[in-house]
Amino acid sequence: MAVTKEKYKTYNNVFDNFTLRNLFKLSSQGHFDELESPLFIGKESNVFTALKDDKRVIVKIYRLETCDFNRMYDYIKYDPRYLSLKRNKRRIIFGWTQREYRNIMKAREAGVIVPTPYVCLQNIIVMEMIGSIKPSPRLKDLMPDDHKSIKKLFDDVISNMIKLHKAGLVHADLSAFNILNRDGKPVFIDFSQSTPFNSPRGMESLERDAKNISNFFIKFGIKTTKEKIIKKILA
Ligand SMILES: Nc1ncnc2c1ncn2[C@@H]1O[C@H](COP(=O)(O)OP(=O)(O)O)[C@@H](O)[C@H]1O
Ligand SMILES: [Mg+2]
Repeated sequence: MAVTKEKYKTYNNVFDNFTLRNLFKLSSQGHFDELESPLFIGKESNVFTALKDDKRVIVKIYRLETCDFNRMYDYIKYDPRYLSLKRNKRRIIFGWTQREYRNIMKAREAGVIVPTPYVCLQNIIVMEMIGSIKPSPRLKDLMPDDHKSIKKLFDDVISNMIKLHKAGLVHADLSAFNILNRDGKPVFIDFSQSTPFNSPRGMESLERDAKNISNFFIKFGIKTTKEKIIKKILA
C-alpha cells in the first residue's frame, strides 16, 4: 500500500521538495510504505527504517543542502568511473549515491555479505534492512564474548575483505562502525567511499581498512597485524 501525498507533507520540515518528490515516487512504486523515525543522522546522509508490508527496509538519503560535497568530490574525483564529474553540487551528490549503490551491488555479486540493494533514485538508496525486527547492532556495539566466536567473526571479516578485493574494490571506510553483527556473522555496510583498488588511493585505503580491523580485533584477543591482513588479501 503506497502512502498518500498528504503523509509525505508531514516530512516537509525534514526534507526539501526535491527529496520529498523522490520519496513519494519510490513509495508509489511500492519500494516502501512509510518512513519511520531516523535511525542515524550522519555527516552527509540520514538513514531511516521504512515499513514495507510487514517488514522493514533501509532508506539512506543524502542531504542536498548540508552535504560536505567538497569532501565527496575529493574522494570521487579519483574514481576512474567518475572522472567526468564536474564540480556541480547536485551531480556530485547523485554520482556519490549511485556509486554507493553500484559498489554494494558489485560487492554482493562477488559474494561479500552486504545488504541487498533494491533501488537508487538520485540522492536516495533503498536496501535490505539487516536484522529481523530491529536493525542489527554494529560490531562497535555488540561483540561475542567467547574467543571461538570472536575468531570466527574475524575470519569471516577477512574472507569478506578478500572477496571484495577479488572484485577489484576496496571498502575504504571499513571499521567496527560499518560492520553489522547479524547473529555472529559480519555484514559490511556503508560503501560510499569504496573505490576500485587500482585507483590512486586504492592501496592507501586498503592499508587503513586493514589497520582498523587489526586494531579492533587485537583488543578482543585476536593475534594479528595490519601486515598479516594485507598479505592475506593480496595473496
Ligand atoms: N542495511 C542496513 N541494515 C541495518 N542497519 C543499517 C543498514 N544500513 C545502515 N544501517 C545503520 O545506519 C547507520 C548509518 O549508516 P551508514 O551507511 O554507515 O551511513 P554513514 O555514511 O552516515 O556512516 C549504520 O551505522 C547502521 O547502524
Ligand atoms: Mg557508516
